[in-house]
Amino acid sequence: QNDSGFTFVLFGGTGDLAMRKILPALFEAHKGGMLADAGKIVGIARDSYDRAGYLAWVEQHVRAHVAAADFDESVWQSFLNRFEYAALDLSRRDDFVLLRDMLKELPAAVRVFYLATGPSLFVPTCRALASVGLNAGARIVLEKPLGYDLASSNAINDAVGEIFAEEQIYRIDHYLGKESVQNLLALRFGNVLFEPLWRREWVESIQITIAEELGVEARGDFYNQTGALRDMVQNHLLQLLSIVAMEPPHAIESDSVRDEKLRVLRSLKPVQRSEISKVAVRGQYHAGVIRGNPVPGYASEHGVPKDSTTETFVALKVEIENWRWAGVPFFLRTGKRLADRVAEIVVNFRQVPHSALGGLPAGQNRLVIRLQPNESIRLYCQAKQPGEGWNLAQVHLDLAFDQFFKEHRMEAYQRLLLDVINGRLALFVRRDEQEAAWRWVEPILDEWAASPLKGPKPYAAGTWGPAAASAMLAQHGTCWLEEEN
Ligand code: BG6
Repeated sequence: QNDSGFTFVLFGGTGDLAMRKILPALFEAHKGGMLADAGKIVGIARDSYDRAGYLAWVEQHVRAHVAAADFDESVWQSFLNRFEYAALDLSRRDDFVLLRDMLKELPAAVRVFYLATGPSLFVPTCRALASVGLNAGARIVLEKPLGYDLASSNAINDAVGEIFAEEQIYRIDHYLGKESVQNLLALRFGNVLFEPLWRREWVESIQITIAEELGVEARGDFYNQTGALRDMVQNHLLQLLSIVAMEPPHAIESDSVRDEKLRVLRSLKPVQRSEISKVAVRGQYHAGVIRGNPVPGYASEHGVPKDSTTETFVALKVEIENWRWAGVPFFLRTGKRLADRVAEIVVNFRQVPHSALGGLPAGQNRLVIRLQPNESIRLYCQAKQPGEGWNLAQVHLDLAFDQFFKEHRMEAYQRLLLDVINGRLALFVRRDEQEAAWRWVEPILDEWAASPLKGPKPYAAGTWGPAAASAMLAQHGTCWLEEEN
């Protein structure tokens, strides 16, 4: 707890993200006593509310998004006491002078500007803040999407970088705020068991899946200009990949995790445009059935043109060019309207080098790390079936974290917002990481944009994506792990 207080200024204060994620996360932190008593929240929007009007908006929209189970009216009221409101028009410097005057009255030890707005407003907002001197000593939080490709992301980072130093910039990838993703670091670097095997000598292939049952919801227009490669791969999947593949860091609370992740991102084997059809599959969902309910196809979603070639599914084969991972394929996949909602990492170990038991065992050792839902670890081993002879069967050891840890798990946003307020940068994406990730996806983006006629392959909603994604793994003698946990 930071007793000298903070002021948390939320641009996009009446937006969807504020309503669904940011303000509920601040409420949870408040309820848990994790915010300094003197901390203030300033909602900013273009709408001409006053403080009372904004509080009414928060009451109407945010309250429904906070956990109902242990809702306490007096805690909610004390949360509302933290709020101020300012209406701002980006083009009016006078409005920013007023904001500066308002902030003079509020705690100044820690000042956070959270840009929960469209990326087109990032640079004008930073410039307007700088024009009244509000950039000095402040922290700035940027939400994805940070650009549309390498050039646009560089343009934003260059312009923001002229106003804020890198140590002042917190780029959010909410996957890094997930307890289960941090646990991945604990699993790898808090145990001696896995690390010696975590390399090409023992690992045959690795799969990373983030599958969603949801479609594009109300975001058809945005999503159609984005697609799964930008929405999920450039950020969340490559971040997971870099955590799975990185070298042991020197320490967790420093830049060393980011340094090691960066090394992985820079070691990704560049994809040649001529070979993209072999290492990348794009798909788009058609009408289908999710958990017994019929759902429309992507092209019938609100805001999506009928002839859209935007991908809602991506599967990739990625290689890492370093000593630890040379030759080991990493298969990544993500998609909307798939058969299940699951995020998991599957480490397939090699076959035993020699079978003393007659014949090769039925299966391989395999470690399945499920990040969501129901965080768990499952380790597949071979065991002798009871009876005569040496028949081996595949068995598994299960560790379900929610049965082990009974504590309430913090939402990703809550953890990340507390880290911003407390000045901890480790779980935010550094500029060089972001650039390396864009640089790697860019040939695929370019090739897909240049060949719309080859378009995404159709898949029915409620399935695991186009058959080509399975065929890609079959070529490597493996298949996607799809099972109930
Ligand atoms: C967001 C994407 O970054 O992540 C969404 O923009 C996606 O399209 C979401 O649905 C998935 O996050 P989670 O935490 O629900 O797995």
